[in-house]
Amino acid sequence: MSQKVLVWDAPTRVFHWVQALCFLGAYLTSDSEKTRDIHVALGYILFGMIVFRLLWGFVGTRYAKFSSFAYGPSKIISYLVSLFKGKADHFVGHNPIGSVAIWLLLSGGLTLGVTGVMLLQDDFEDIVEEIHDYATNAMLIVIAIHLIGVFASSFLHKENLVRAMITGFKPGEDSQGIKTAYNWLAAMMLVIVVCFGAYYLR
Ligand code: HEM
Repeated sequence: MSQKVLVWDAPTRVFHWVQALCFLGAYLTSDSEKTRDIHVALGYILFGMIVFRLLWGFVGTRYAKFSSFAYGPSKIISYLVSLFKGKADHFVGHNPIGSVAIWLLLSGGLTLGVTGVMLLQDDFEDIVEEIHDYATNAMLIVIAIHLIGVFASSFLHKENLVRAMITGFKPGEDSQGIKTAYNWLAAMMLVIVVCFGAYYLR
């Protein structure tokens, strides 16, 4: 299909790339006392992004809404069957298998945020630290699966999902596109992130 329609609104795209960079940055700065402030600042931004995404999942645009990718087991199984038959169904939003990774990534991000804040308050330090570490390692595994899924699905459906998460556009019918990108909200998110980072690390 040559026609492209807007699928990912701008806040969802900003959320995606900011939280992905924050996770990777926080991971790389987690071992040294010297980079602790950067780790904590990135952790706060990641937590803020996840909280925003949880709200946006209820009030956001069509494909950002949780209801658009809350697939039950039968949908996941029938998608798997269609994959094995070599005739994978095409989804304009998240596909049923990709959505499993997405639920796990959102839950993992939330767990990291909550346990990170608890660690800063010295609450139940040992157990919380253990959960924070387990969640980090689990996230690394799910991110690897997420990336394999993104590239496999791009190859299978001959579409560039990474580009779609940058531009917001995917091949589709007019009726499948969303109407508003909410660029102003995404711009506000970026301003808040930059101001918070600059203030915290001043
Ligand atoms: C360079 C690395 C990454 C690439 C290329 C990438 C790419 C993508 C793409 C293409 C999608 C849309 C999938 C679809 O069409 O259904 C997506 C969604 C998502 N990715 Fe990534 N991703 C990356 C790293 C990460 C990381 C590190 C995380 C978590 C820390 C993450 C979490 C998510 C989440 C939560 C979604 C769902 C977006 C939403 O609906 O809000 N991604 N990613």
